Amino acid sequence: MRSFQSIVLAAGKGTRMKSEHVKVLHEVAGKPIIGHVMQASLDAGAERVVVILGHQRAEVEAYLEREFPGKYVVALQEEQKGTGHAVQSCSQYLTDGPEFSLIVSGDVPNMDAATLKAFIDASQNFGFAVMTALLDDPAHYGRIVRTDECDMVGIVEYKDASPEQRAINEINAGFYLAQSSFLRVELDKLCAAPPHNAAGEYYLTDLIEIAANDAVVLGWPVPDARKIQGVNTRVDLAAAESYARETINHRLMLDGVTMLSPQTTYVDATVEIGPDAVLHPNVYIYGKTTIASGAVIEPGSVITNSSIGPDAHIKAQSYITNATVGARTAIGPMAHIRPDSRIGSDCKVGNFVEIKKTSLADGAKASHLTYLGDAVVGEKANVGAGTITCNYDGKRKHVTTIGAGAFIGSNSALVAPITIADGAYVGAGSTLTKDVPEGALGVARGRQQNIDGWARRRRSTEE
Ligand code: UD1
Ligand code: CA
Repeated sequence: MRSFQSIVLAAGKGTRMKSEHVKVLHEVAGKPIIGHVMQASLDAGAERVVVILGHQRAEVEAYLEREFPGKYVVALQEEQKGTGHAVQSCSQYLTDGPEFSLIVSGDVPNMDAATLKAFIDASQNFGFAVMTALLDDPAHYGRIVRTDECDMVGIVEYKDASPEQRAINEINAGFYLAQSSFLRVELDKLCAAPPHNAAGEYYLTDLIEIAANDAVVLGWPVPDARKIQGVNTRVDLAAAESYARETINHRLMLDGVTMLSPQTTYVDATVEIGPDAVLHPNVYIYGKTTIASGAVIEPGSVITNSSIGPDAHIKAQSYITNATVGARTAIGPMAHIRPDSRIGSDCKVGNFVEIKKTSLADGAKASHLTYLGDAVVGEKANVGAGTITCNYDGKRKHVTTIGAGAFIGSNSALVAPITIADGAYVGAGSTLTKDVPEGALGVARGRQQNIDGWARRRRSTEE
């Protein structure tokens, strides 16, 4: 394959999105559009990725720095005067790099590396190539103009097209392969004179006519037109989202994940799921989440930036964020696992249990109606129904430590900071403010008194 650099066009505002945020940072399958485009370029084997930034570039650069450190260079397009002007803004990179440049629209999230590679392969014997698509509804894309012999001679933008040209259903997908030196020379020329089109912009697409004067330009129709859908509006964004999810689910199922209802299963592009995991209908798996093999995720669960261990069982309607869940552990139904929680292996966290910034060692259980916040729970400890860690004094949070094998009786309140040592018991209904030593029983509640014959006497006074 030809060696090439990729030039990503991402300086535009995206006015048609009607948004405070720059278009390329809008997310598709949980990942900014530009993230998808960068990944496709890198996976296709680009020697260098040049990103053209302008509008809200600080935000875009912050994202790129976080997700793709050291893997790209930036060129600035201060004023957005069109796609031709955008590529000209990186002219320094058109002289010192690979012979060929792959120009990539920054607003096409479903483009993938395999398609880019196929395009580059197909362009092998051409100096200039354009990726095209045949669409039933060519909408507002640029139209591909060909001669009767089918040679490509130009691209006419929708705004500038005649009714006959608008009837053409082969469109410009927004991906080009060209000689870097050609781009450098011709874009300098293009941008030297005032623009002459309906939009008043310097069109990259005007280069096709120039290239076609010298040699045959390849117009390569993409095999799957859904991959080239550009995002200009929120309607486009929703369509891109739906196709991205379909693609992700398809890939996961081929990798061995069972989905009972792929139509209602939402998995972000950033998620990894092992084979034999089972996703029930209506599950939402977001962010940097990993689900190990054999885990079962029941309906209505929402899991974000978390790690779920092998054969874990997340029962219906559980909400898990920034947490880890160990092997064979059961969570829910209706459990809330909040950030910075680490649940070990073979644990049980049952219905209506809320856990925050808490670790449960292997085999620990909190089966019903419990709040554990800022707590450290030892191996095989049993936290009874209705236990509350009182972790907040109105100003600060304090830690509750529950030792290995400890047993917390139901409906207890543990006022932190407090330690229930290994193997200790807490009597049901206690409100504890002092530590319980190893092996002891801590109990703090009114003593029970039974008064013989009381009920009979009471009834007789009522008569
Ligand atoms: C462009 C093509 C059109 C093609 C379509 C495919 C031109 C003139 N038209 O139209 O033929 O069918 O893409 O999706 O190229 N950008 C900059 N700087 C600018 C202007 C745009 O970096 O000054 C970036 C945008 O951020 C965007 C990309 O270039 O990522 C495409 O720009 P956009 O305005 O969306 O072009 P389209 O109207 O979609
Ligand atoms: Ca576009």
